[in-house]
Amino acid sequence: MISVKNISYTYMTGTPFEKTALKNISFDVAEGEVLAVAGHTGSGKSTLIQIVAGLIDLQIGAVEIDNLPVADKKIRRLVGIVFQYPEHQLFEETVERDIAFGPKNFGLDDAEISARVEEAMRQVGLPAELKNVSPFELSGGQRRRVAIAGILALKPKYLILDEPTAGLDPLAKENLLKEIFGVIKKSGVTIILVSHNMEDIARFANRVVVLAQGKILFVGTPRELFAQEEILSRAGLEPPPITQLLRKLNIDENILSLDEAEKFILKNWRKV
Ligand SMILES: Nc1ncnc2c1ncn2[C@@H]1O[C@H](COP(=O)(O)OP(=O)(O)OP(=O)(O)O)[C@@H](O)[C@H]1O
Ligand SMILES: [Mg+2]
Repeated sequence: MISVKNISYTYMTGTPFEKTALKNISFDVAEGEVLAVAGHTGSGKSTLIQIVAGLIDLQIGAVEIDNLPVADKKIRRLVGIVFQYPEHQLFEETVERDIAFGPKNFGLDDAEISARVEEAMRQVGLPAELKNVSPFELSGGQRRRVAIAGILALKPKYLILDEPTAGLDPLAKENLLKEIFGVIKKSGVTIILVSHNMEDIARFANRVVVLAQGKILFVGTPRELFAQEEILSRAGLEPPPITQLLRKLNIDENILSLDEAEKFILKNWRKV
């Protein structure tokens, strides 16, 4: 379990640029869940997940991962983080070497490393033939997959993804999400997903934390969130497009996905 207790964080304290990015944030992440973090740009999402991953030092409050304080070096092996635009950090000559980089640093033996590279490539839907290709010859979507595979090859118990599909075209985005959440969820990994996309949150998250100006505005299920218009408008968020459309038609069932809409329409088509 990840437990975040009363954390606050200020950048550049004591300078004219001082900026409080997080104020008194508390929540837990249970094992096996997909917890989304949503909020307007600048609301503190990236600051929060970097603190949870131990990449930014705590100022106020505490983060515990499996009962270890986040500053404990042992948590490095428990938590994997995929930054926004992670493909910018690829640097090795081949896909295989890039994915193997982290596992090598963990000191794993060669057989284990190559098994992990193969498995991670499968998990993100990269064909094995691409192993010896330079990442720089790949498409943007494929490079993104290589970067994500490099984190999966570490087999983290907790996986943090900061806008994993930002900047991809709709098809690449859809495929990547299906792969991430289909294959990886089966492996039981716990996920913290930062996303601006309410449709993705509705489809994949069990719970969602909404941040606004560094404070928690809401914690609950996506279904609860999308029923609360006032919270959404205070956070600068909108329900998924299908939900908005049906509400405009005065169908006020809390329908969150195309699948639910299809079922509803088939059942009620005479009335619609
Ligand atoms: N390194 C930094 N130095 C100073 N201020 C920063 C720094 N990083 C972030 N901030 C400020 O802290 C606040 C929260 O930023 P953060 O990046 O956590 O937001 P975010 O929710 O991830 O935004 P986005 O959706 O744009 O990625 C913002 O006001 C931002 O300008
Ligand atoms: Mg961010």
